[in-house]
Amino acid sequence: MENQLKNLQTAALKALEGIKDEKSLKDLEVQYLGRKGKLTEILRGLKNLPDEKKPMMGQLSNKTKATLEEALAQKLTALAKGKLEKELSGEFFDTTIPGTAREIGHIHPLCQVQEEVERIFYQMGFAIADGPEVESEYYNFEGLNISKDHPARDMQDTFFIANKEHKDSSHRAGGHGRMVLRTHTSPVQVRMLEKYGAPTRVIIPGRVFRNEATDASHEHTFNQVEGLLIDKDISMGHLKGVMAEFLTRLFGKPVKVRFRPGYFPFVEPGLELDFSCLLCEGTGKKEDCPCRVCKKTGWVEFMGAGMTHEKVLEAGGVDPKKYQGWAFGFGLTRLTMMRHGITDIRLLASGDLRFSRQF
Ligand code: DAH
Repeated sequence: MENQLKNLQTAALKALEGIKDEKSLKDLEVQYLGRKGKLTEILRGLKNLPDEKKPMMGQLSNKTKATLEEALAQKLTALAKGKLEKELSGEFFDTTIPGTAREIGHIHPLCQVQEEVERIFYQMGFAIADGPEVESEYYNFEGLNISKDHPARDMQDTFFIANKEHKDSSHRAGGHGRMVLRTHTSPVQVRMLEKYGAPTRVIIPGRVFRNEATDASHEHTFNQVEGLLIDKDISMGHLKGVMAEFLTRLFGKPVKVRFRPGYFPFVEPGLELDFSCLLCEGTGKKEDCPCRVCKKTGWVEFMGAGMTHEKVLEAGGVDPKKYQGWAFGFGLTRLTMMRHGITDIRLLASGDLRFSRQF
């Protein structure tokens, strides 16, 4: 019996060496250690042994069983490990390939320029404010001394909100009138004066709307920046200085400004401000060719401005005998177009990624 057990162990271990997969391993286990397996068969002879031999043989058979079980378990681990390695080697994983980049958006060119404008004015001590895009006729027109028969109030130029009166028409003589999409950022001047009084120093960037046929240089929606500075002893000289400084910082090179007479009902006197052409530096000529940016004049038309009208100060509750100042308004959309050489205004609000990805 002793020999039988030894032979069984040798045969089993030898058979084990040739095993290549888990299925054959399982079969081998059943063959040797199963209920009807070879070991059980040998153990059946145990009861026929003389009593004194039984314990020794019992021990030996347990040892054989343990040895085989251990060998089978080791083989199983080895097979599982081999399988995993094979799986991994089949799938080539290159750790040096960069990951898939996630596409993130960026700031629209118009907002980029707006942020620059805000930063510069903020550095010069101006606050940045907002106002409503849906505005009352009062703030958009009357509060700014724009009379009822002014051509700007024509249905052709202004979007009126159908059947919509200002909610709070009681507190002001004449009322607030109908609601409109603001045609400029100037109404926020009166709102600022009402709210903060004088002195005040503020810029108001924002969207404005005009009922216009669109083409490469006209759009129903565009952006402006309003400026308002009210204090004691303020002159047009301050306006000239502030604007020359603003444009110089914005363009990163010395820029000159000039005034021309202009008319806006909410300023007196009113003016137009031009800045010296960046391309030909005010000469009207670029390398002996007529400059295309300023059309040979040396100057680029930039904005409307003027000394704030008494009526506007009064509308804002500020005493014109104590305070005076100036206001300006320029096109942020146009400034963005000049900055980037964009020739069609409609591209800016088109939502076309091929356009905005360029900036
Ligand atoms: N609101 C004017 C417009 O939309 C621009 C403007 C002109 C604003 C003169 C001002 C100003 O504050 O003083 O054309």
